Order: sequence, then structure tokens, then C-alpha cells
Amino acid sequence: MSQSDPSKIFSRIAGTGGYLPERVMTNKDLEKIVETDDQWIRDRTGIEQRHISADSQTTSDLAYEAAILALEMANVKAEDLDLIVVATTTPDKIFPSTATILQQKLGNRGAPAFDVQAVCTGFVYGLSVADQFVKTGMAKKVLVVGAETLSRITNWTDRNTCVLFGDGAGAVVLESSTEAGILSTHIHADGQYEDLLHVPSGPSKVAQTDDIAERTMNMKGNEVFKVAVNTLSRIASETLEANNITKEDLDWLVPHQANLRIINATAKKLSLGADQTVVTVNRHANTSSASVPLALNEAVRDGRIQRGQLLLLEAFGGGFTWGSALIKF
Ligand code: ACO
Repeated sequence: MSQSDPSKIFSRIAGTGGYLPERVMTNKDLEKIVETDDQWIRDRTGIEQRHISADSQTTSDLAYEAAILALEMANVKAEDLDLIVVATTTPDKIFPSTATILQQKLGNRGAPAFDVQAVCTGFVYGLSVADQFVKTGMAKKVLVVGAETLSRITNWTDRNTCVLFGDGAGAVVLESSTEAGILSTHIHADGQYEDLLHVPSGPSKVAQTDDIAERTMNMKGNEVFKVAVNTLSRIASETLEANNITKEDLDWLVPHQANLRIINATAKKLSLGADQTVVTVNRHANTSSASVPLALNEAVRDGRIQRGQLLLLEAFGGGFTWGSALIKF
């Protein structure tokens, strides 16, 4: 496994940040909107509450709050960033990209800035893209953000989906280093699963009807569940094998926060206990591309994740897309 190699350039996580909007919606609040109950949601998903953006808040506003905290921790000025990548499924506008809107808010000018769309795997895709830029010397200080206002594409009359999602943002600042950081990233997609999890309409496929279901998330939950569990266990094995390590070498699993049962199934296959698995889904539900960096940020800031430890990040989402990153923190 690569540790420190002066002839090699690594992307090192220099700072993390996270932001959740002020408004909290509990399961009890949802009981007033749809026919559901707190216990059902807890038992099936582990979710207790989610955060919902204020009407005036957009995805770039959430991204900004998370980015500022990550930049502060990294001691990097926004104007010194030489790449900005935003992973999102809920951009502020069709164009320009949320990344350039964020860039303007941060006061950076001239750095390339673009969005990555891989739904719940977006942050891992963004991290992988940023890592290629750093490893090839194209960038030295990179901001990668996962940010979502999923509440805007949620059908609040559909109990099958509305209990599962929330809004939030997470960010990391990567710096070029000869010390080990991101050891490998692995990203995949299989477009044949489009209809299992999707929003039917879009800018090039405008809904012919006023039907709210056309403009919001549609999901065949139990089919998604099965593929997610199998795929996440495969990507974990792929990552360990590529780095020639075993599951015993891992210190932390930082998984996509969609459902506690999916997280526990993956952790079990890796023989990782609750004390080595970061879980935040109970407090913010599934925030899609924001979920992995939100979990990472929490465990870094509360001191559970320590410098030098080995982290496995993984995610799975619409497309389907899936991916992982092995990181020496
Ligand atoms: N409250 C109460 N009952 C409900 C609710 C609700 N909110 N939603 C569904 N039900 C009912 C169903 O109608 C069904 O009733 P029926 O048996 O009378 O028809 C019953 O509960 C069981 O429904 P299932 O869909 O079989 O329940 P399941 O155990 O599969 O749990 C869930 C559903 C939580 C959606 C699960 O399948 C899941 O988490 N799937 C993964 C989805 C996911 O995380 N997607 C996000 C993107 S992909 C990713 O991030 C991994």
C-alpha cells in the first residue's frame, strides 16, 4: 500500500465542512402529511429527522456554508483554489453550473469550476475527478462539494419516497502532497437501471402533464435496496484488492447515508462494528451527494477519525452509479 512517496503526488484532505439547514422535519411531522409512522420509518431506514432548506436557500447557499468551513480548517483562501467541483442533482439553475455560482459567492475568479452529476454517488465521482487533476499536477488546491436541496424534487404526498430524503451540503479541500492521501478511487455506472430511481421529467424531456410525480423522485425501493447491498459489497472488495489490503486494515467505513440497513449490511460484510462505521443518516436522512462528506466531516470534527487512519468511502445511487475511495487521512 502506498504510504509516502516523494516521486508521487497525492491528494490529501486538508479540511472538511458540513452544513444542514436550520429547519428540522421529524418523523412525527411527516405523520401529519402522509400516512406513515415514526416507528415504521425508524425500523425500515434508521431515519429520525431531516433538514429542509428555507424557501430562499438554494443548493449553492448550502454548498457555500460547507465550503467556508472546509476552507477554514484547511487554512486555504478561496481565491487560491485552482479547481472547484460541485456534485449535485439539484442545481440552482439549468445553467450556469452550481459550481460557478458557488465560485462567485466564494470570491474566486479564474479557476475551472464545474458540476458532476452522479446522484448519490456524486461526491465520490467528484473526488475521483479532482484526484486525477491533483495527481497529474493540473491542480494543487481543490474544493469538492456535495450539496442538495432534495426537498425541491420530493413528492410530499408519496410516503414511499418523502420519508427518505433531506437537504444538506458537505465539502472537502484537497491539497497536493507527497504524503499519502487518496490511495485509489473506483467509479462505475450501469444505465440499464434508469427507471428504478429517477425524476421522469427534465429540461430536455419536459413533462406533458401537471402530474407532480413527473417532477419528483420515483423509486422502486425494495429493488434499489437489493442492488445497493450487493453492489456496495462488490465495490468494497474491488477497493481492498486494488490496494492489496484486507478488511482488517481499515479503520473506518464512511458510507453513503441512505438507509441504516444498507449501511449495516455493508459494514457486516467488512467485519466492521458500529465503532468503526460512521452513521449520520438518523439525523439528516438521505442527502444524496452531500451524505458522504457530511458523515466524513462529522467524524473528523468530533475526533473519531484521526490523521493517519485508513478510510473507505462508498456510495450508490440513481443510474445506477456507484463508487468508492480509499483514503489515508
Ligand atoms: N410509512 C408506512 N408504510 C410505508 C411507507 C411509509 N413511509 N412506505 C411504504 N410503506 C408500506 C408499503 O406500502 C408496503 O405496504 P404493503 O405491504 O401493504 O404494500 C410496506 O410498507 C412495505 O413496503 P416495502 O417497500 O416492501 O418496504 P421495504 O422494507 O423495502 O422498505 C424502503 C422500503 C425503506 C424504501 C427500502 O426499500 C429502502 O430503503 N430502499 C432503498 C431506497 C434508497 O435508499 N434509495 C435512495 C437512493 S439509492 C441509495 O441511496 C442507496
